[in-house]
Amino acid sequence: MSSKIELQAIHLCKSYRKKEALKDVNFILEKGVYGLLGENGAGKSTLMRILTTVDSPTSGKVTYNGGNIVDMNEDYRDLIGYMPQEYNVYPAFTATDFLNYMGTLKGLSADELRKKIPEVLEFVNLTDVAKKKVRTFSGGMKRRIGIAQAILNDPKILILDEPTAGLDPEERIRFSNILSQMAKEKIILLSTHIVSDIEAIANRLIVIRKGEIVKTGCIDELVEDVEGKVWEVATRQDMLHKVNSEKAVIHIKQAGKEVHIRFVGEAYPDMDYTPVTPTLEDYYMFIMKKGENENE
Ligand SMILES: Nc1ncnc2c1ncn2[C@@H]1O[C@H](COP(=O)(O)OP(=O)(O)O)[C@@H](O)[C@H]1O
Ligand SMILES: [Mg+2]
Repeated sequence: MSSKIELQAIHLCKSYRKKEALKDVNFILEKGVYGLLGENGAGKSTLMRILTTVDSPTSGKVTYNGGNIVDMNEDYRDLIGYMPQEYNVYPAFTATDFLNYMGTLKGLSADELRKKIPEVLEFVNLTDVAKKKVRTFSGGMKRRIGIAQAILNDPKILILDEPTAGLDPEERIRFSNILSQMAKEKIILLSTHIVSDIEAIANRLIVIRKGEIVKTGCIDELVEDVEGKVWEVATRQDMLHKVNSEKAVIHIKQAGKEVHIRFVGEAYPDMDYTPVTPTLEDYYMFIMKKGENENE
């Protein structure tokens, strides 16, 4: 039987001098793929550094199955795989050399590495280039070797900071397949500011805004919140400004004298509407717009 794993953030706060990067962050993660979604500067990387013990909170704590991760020390680090946002692979290393180096840092023995490296290379589909220098790799290949190093120690918790940045569409699909294969046994947390990446990869969502968690939940359930509130409307050009200031506008398409607008919110009485099925992007834009208005 597979064991239960639970990672919990409890009243996490982090300040850099006057800047409050995290404000009373609370959540519980169980097995599955979580997307941490937020704009640049929202606090995603800060949160991930705390979850991996690279950085410590100003107050609050993180527990793994009830124990403070700071007290668990090495035992906790053995459970973690991490790909930081600023991720530099050593250009002069071959893929195999790089994994040997990273594995040694993680405390794996030469025997373990001999067995494990071909496995992870196979998993991220880099077997063919095992002996090639990392400098010759594309952006997507560098990300995949980043994942390979993060999973060398069979982590229970995999934390990936903006792993899809710079991937082309094909690489994104490959990446999403890799993660979904691992998700049954692990907690996977990945950050991004790209909504469509979350939809393709994660099934649960954590939305962070200015250091605060504004929503958590299953993506399908969250999206239901805007059911019946998403519209596509063809209207006069001069309405665009009004709609834009009052509603969460998802996209705009010019069509001669008219403009087609997709927006989330209550419908206006005298426009020509088509109701549409909501997507995660509709939902996200809606809650971000709401947050903006509440802060005014
Ligand atoms: N080492 C640091 N010193 C000072 N401010 C920082 C530091 N790291 C992050 N910040 C600030 O904390 C906030 C959150 O940053 P970060 O966690 O990197 O956000 P994200 O990863 O979502 O883009 C930002 O305002 C950022 O400028
Ligand atoms: Mg970041």
